[in-house]
Amino acid sequence: MRDTDLSAALLAWYDVNARAMPWRVPPAARAARVMPDPYRVWMSEVMLQQTTVAAVRAYFLRFTERWPDVAALAAAADADVMAEWAGLGYYARARNLLACARAVVADHGGQFPATLDGLRSLPGVGPYTAAAIASIAYDAPETVVDGNVERVIARVFAVETPLPTAKSELTRLAATVTPQTRAGDYAQAVMDLGATICTPRSPACTICPLLHLCAARRAGIQADLPRKLPKPEKPTRHGTAWALRNPAGDWLLEHRPARGLLGGMLGFPSTGWDGTSAEAPLTADWIDAGAITHTFTHFHLILRVLTATTTANPARGAFHPVRPTDLPTVMRKAHALASQVNPPR
Ligand code: ADE
Repeated sequence: MRDTDLSAALLAWYDVNARAMPWRVPPAARAARVMPDPYRVWMSEVMLQQTTVAAVRAYFLRFTERWPDVAALAAAADADVMAEWAGLGYYARARNLLACARAVVADHGGQFPATLDGLRSLPGVGPYTAAAIASIAYDAPETVVDGNVERVIARVFAVETPLPTAKSELTRLAATVTPQTRAGDYAQAVMDLGATICTPRSPACTICPLLHLCAARRAGIQADLPRKLPKPEKPTRHGTAWALRNPAGDWLLEHRPARGLLGGMLGFPSTGWDGTSAEAPLTADWIDAGAITHTFTHFHLILRVLTATTTANPARGAFHPVRPTDLPTVMRKAHALASQVNPPR
């Protein structure tokens, strides 16, 4: 295979099959020199590291409607951004989002840098995001490597080394086939191929534009690649949350400490989730509402939810009329459970 065979086949496929996305400039428009707004590329790529394209769409539209450019986001109140991010997970990313917007305004005159090094100097921008912005927003011939790209490259080159050991080899091979022109379309084309055709379990090889180049398909091992070393089992941790209402039906919430899990997010007072204990916010006739389960990156949590109604004013937190969408997912689950047992009077 010549280095350009793969990108030529993939770009021809993308010209016809590019998925429509609110942050994307389709290939025909890019050919007419329309380029996407780096702010929108950056925001979408940060969000897409959390979850699927389908889930990101609504968040992206809300964020960009409320904060249409980087200066608007840089001027936003931290609590507003954290509340809009609620449900996406990995809340450190939301704090970095704000820090990055402020750095772009303060240090770069409101323009996202166009080079990998310039982009890497921004808070929260790692190798993946920097390469994605450089290529998609500026057509710099940088190689974007995410899980989709690793899978496509492992299959095309029949790399049998398991992940994560294979990461550096896959990155090196991906770079050998990254084109010098249309780098932005190419980066998005590999990701679209990985999401729609070169899928993890049963790839649709018969309609794949890279069928004739794919060494794994030739060997009949495409569905087995990339191989993966077994992941360590996640431990299960336990905690208790106190869902306290006042007679008006509001819930006692507090901001979690800025550092650590769910840092800066609103939630019910709780024990630590690593065996550290804490006091209930006050003495009350606590009702056991049951337990919810939630899986974080590194552990499963079983969170017991106790609920009560009080006329007193606890020393910590404040009573809020809760909009579940402002809460991180684990707290939404706790809120739903407590609301069943302790409905408003
Ligand atoms: N996944 C992450 N970024 C993407 C993009 N720009 N296009 C398609 N899928 C993606």
